[in-house]
Amino acid sequence: MIGVAVFVSGRGSNLEAILNSPKLKKLVIVKAVISDNAECPAFEYAKKNSIDTYNVGKQENFIHYSDLAEFLKSLDIGLIVLAGFLKMIPETVIKNFNNRIINIHPALLPSFGGKGMYGMNVHKAVYNSGAKVSGATVHFIDEAYDEGKIIAQKKVDISDVKFPEQIAERVLKIEHELLPFVIEKFARNQISVKKNRIMLLR
Ligand code: GRF
Repeated sequence: MIGVAVFVSGRGSNLEAILNSPKLKKLVIVKAVISDNAECPAFEYAKKNSIDTYNVGKQENFIHYSDLAEFLKSLDIGLIVLAGFLKMIPETVIKNFNNRIINIHPALLPSFGGKGMYGMNVHKAVYNSGAKVSGATVHFIDEAYDEGKIIAQKKVDISDVKFPEQIAERVLKIEHELLPFVIEKFARNQISVKKNRIMLLR
């Protein structure tokens, strides 16, 4: 079993998808849910599922950013999953967890990523671009954020959508398949990292 820490800031539907995946139940244990916002629904969901929650925001159970790497090591965390976490991960964590931090992005990177590209901003940009497909990307995190090595992507047809919210809905659905899939691959040691290209092994 691999110890997983999930970082969240909002709704928590990806956290829910991880916790409800029957395959993952046998492979990983979510040891901590960490948020910058103690009021977020994702945090509430974690608490309801008896998962320890930690706050890197300003309220109780606070963990200082500079202590985060040591803290995660003390919990024996093997994989960090960013599932809608809006803050930057400190460099010490990135250095200590090389190729062990993954993020889910609600578009097909390298398009529609980078600064300001989160939440509905992404789907509005995709909509305004006239793109006929969108999708989700799971990638490793490095210092350049949305530019980390791509692990897996899944696309969805959006050629008939009438507004950005429809894109968001379709993409979210595939996020809930893609993220548990990648975590499973990680847990089974089936992600092979070769310079800039990542292969998924069977
Ligand atoms: C998802 O769209 C994810 O791709 C992005 O933030 C959103 C989080 O949604 N990084 P949820 O909190 O998991 O419902």
